Amino acid sequence: MKLLVIGATRGIGRSLVEQALDDGHSIRALVRDPGRLPVLDERLDLVKGDIRDKEAVRNAVADQQAVCITIGINPTRKPVSVFSAGTENVIDAMTGSASGLLICVTGIGAGDSKHHGGFFYDKIFNPLLLKTIYADKDRQEKLVRKSKLEWVIVRPGFLTNGPLTGTYRALTDLEGIKAGKISRADVAHFILTELHSKQYLSKTPLLTY
Ligand SMILES: NC(=O)c1ccc[n+]([C@@H]2O[C@H](COP(=O)([O-])OP(=O)(O)OC[C@H]3O[C@@H](n4cnc5c(N)ncnc54)[C@H](OP(=O)(O)O)[C@@H]3O)[C@@H](O)[C@H]2O)c1
Repeated sequence: MKLLVIGATRGIGRSLVEQALDDGHSIRALVRDPGRLPVLDERLDLVKGDIRDKEAVRNAVADQQAVCITIGINPTRKPVSVFSAGTENVIDAMTGSASGLLICVTGIGAGDSKHHGGFFYDKIFNPLLLKTIYADKDRQEKLVRKSKLEWVIVRPGFLTNGPLTGTYRALTDLEGIKAGKISRADVAHFILTELHSKQYLSKTPLLTY
């Protein structure tokens, strides 16, 4: 499997690169600063670029079988567009190319997972510090849903730097559910599993322990 990861220098994306290389995949990573991903492996192709750069995205997507978007930014109250604008570039590049599967990481609070984060997150943290980010993640999810691609939207619960366990829940029916924690390594594990199984195509699983 030739996989392009966008958002590979840290967190979920970095863990995905490491696990995918261990699993024998060839990985391309689109990174703004190649110096931030010091993983040496001949099957890792580092391409410099920003997800907002249409041309860089088109070149990075070429020849890939799947693309995973794991980008993130710091909490902000300013308007945010990088998730939707970047994802639009990826969808445009993938549409009509050989790349089939788009896996996009959004998060608890996006789309119909709103109000499933618990009182503090739903009423205080998200509205105060993540409102504009999640407004853009909503736009991002809409773009993915209406694309003609095979897609999976992955919504992690609250991220930790805990270990890879391989044991977590992927929930598509959120009735009565309040999200809990999930490690970045386990989110990466889910993505890698999904690349093989495609069990959650056109779905928006919430990942939580
Ligand atoms: N924190 C939580 O509890 C939580 C819960 C659910 C979902 N999430 C979401 O999960 C996602 C991943 O989070 P994370 O903590 O694993 O990763 P993260 O630390 O937010 O890492 C973000 C990655 O995105 C890259 N990036 C940012 N802007 C970019 C751009 N314009 N072009 C290309 N790459 C760009 C960064 O690269 P650089 O090195 O260039 O900066 C970095 O590799 C985020 O969207 C986050 O909102 C978080």
